[in-house]
Amino acid sequence: MHNEIDLDKIDINLESPTEEPFRQYYFMARCREWVREFERKNGRRPTAFTQTFGCQMNAKDSEKLQGILERIGFVEADDEKADFVLYNTCTVRENANQRVYGRLGFLNTLKRKNPNMLIALCGCMMQEPDVVDKIKKSYGFVDIIFGTHNIFKLAELLFGRLEKKKMVVDIWKDTRQIVEELPAERKFSFKSGVNIMFGCDNFCSYCIVPYVRGRERSRKPEDIIAEVEKLAADGVTEVMLLGQNVNSYGKNLETPITFARLLRQVEEVEGIERIRFMTSHPKDLSQELIQVMGESKKICRHLHLPIQSGSTRILKAMNRRYTKEQYLDLVDRIRAAVPDISLTTDIIVGFPGETEEDFLETMDVVEKVGFDSAFTFIYSRRTGTPAASMEDQVRDEVVKDRFDRLLARVQEIAARVCARDLHTTQKVLVESLDDHLDGYVTGRLDNNIVVHFPGDASLVGTIVPVYLKESKGFYYMGTAAGK
Ligand code: 5AD
Ligand code: SF4
Repeated sequence: MHNEIDLDKIDINLESPTEEPFRQYYFMARCREWVREFERKNGRRPTAFTQTFGCQMNAKDSEKLQGILERIGFVEADDEKADFVLYNTCTVRENANQRVYGRLGFLNTLKRKNPNMLIALCGCMMQEPDVVDKIKKSYGFVDIIFGTHNIFKLAELLFGRLEKKKMVVDIWKDTRQIVEELPAERKFSFKSGVNIMFGCDNFCSYCIVPYVRGRERSRKPEDIIAEVEKLAADGVTEVMLLGQNVNSYGKNLETPITFARLLRQVEEVEGIERIRFMTSHPKDLSQELIQVMGESKKICRHLHLPIQSGSTRILKAMNRRYTKEQYLDLVDRIRAAVPDISLTTDIIVGFPGETEEDFLETMDVVEKVGFDSAFTFIYSRRTGTPAASMEDQVRDEVVKDRFDRLLARVQEIAARVCARDLHTTQKVLVESLDDHLDGYVTGRLDNNIVVHFPGDASLVGTIVPVYLKESKGFYYMGTAAGK
């Protein structure tokens, strides 16, 4: 949310305030002085580039980081040839870490050419002590390192680096603090993510997230609603409510509230046409939520419901706390309430101890449910998680073979089920001009499937009825209804 605090009214000769968000506005004002000095010397404002790795939560965090940089006076750059480069990292799988290390080598060569360049790293990977040690030791050219809990402090950390002229490292192990009222730079004018909770308490045995994102904490419903109302007033029609496990929203608030009740409140906000949410844990998805989804006019016909494995034995070892049968029963109940819902999922292949029989159970669920799409992952051993020390890690060739079989089947099924709305007219929220076809625009159905149809820039951000005349498997070609 953007509280219009006027940075010019802040007296930077005073001591820094202790209370948030005022403390951060003070440091934004101080950094802005530095930007002005830079401009006087160089005849231009400094540029900043932010690269986001990983999930929607990180994308949302990056919007907040970019909002702070923009308030300070940086001009957004398109690539790393910038005065300030910030990587918001992910560590959910090992290859995410490898990508960051690879890119750091490249940043080093850029910094040799421009020694005044500033490099900052933040996000999940920085919450791992081994990573921070390695960066301090082998990548001494990095200027600022911070984690997931203190992204709101970017201006203060940047100011610290400018003053001290040496590497600033600030990692918090955990926090209960939620700082409201900081600026954010939204990527789209018509849709926006809204954090409803942070952290995760589930400790699935393969997953690093609870260690790097900390304990579950929910924002107050009144803060969430105020943000959604502000977004609606700014022209946003679609909101995506974000949390690691939205179904346990509100349990730990002083006045507890369910996620289903929060949805009902969001639904009342005028101007909001579409409501999405992510991610749902099957063990916490309540009948109350299913009912709200069935009754709602605004909640999209789409549910991302990670299954991870179809084998009850593996699910137990994963600490998922549901069985294959419970998952299938949940799907039946959801489909009874919202018959044409699009279901998507996450699946991990090669969890320690996974046998061919276990894998076939996963294939069986894929057949039975008929997912619109599935994100399939090869199990990645994350140091510090219980699964990393389990015996029976599955051999790479076996995992690769299962992964290929799964992916092929997922794609065949997806192409069939995604065509469910063929030859009907559906509402499309237009997102952009088409990247490939001149005179076309690209948008999404409420169930998240992409549609291309003839149109121009004036349609971007609007909801248009479109006749779906051809299914291409994962997307449709259409025509604006009545044309
Ligand atoms: N290995 C592979 N995939 C993982 N995920 C989380 N941890 C791991 C891991 N160690 C996947 C899960 C989760 C998604 C965001 O990432 O499927 O739902
Ligand atoms: Fe990781 Fe499980 Fe939490 Fe999802 S619910 S973030 S998979 S621990």
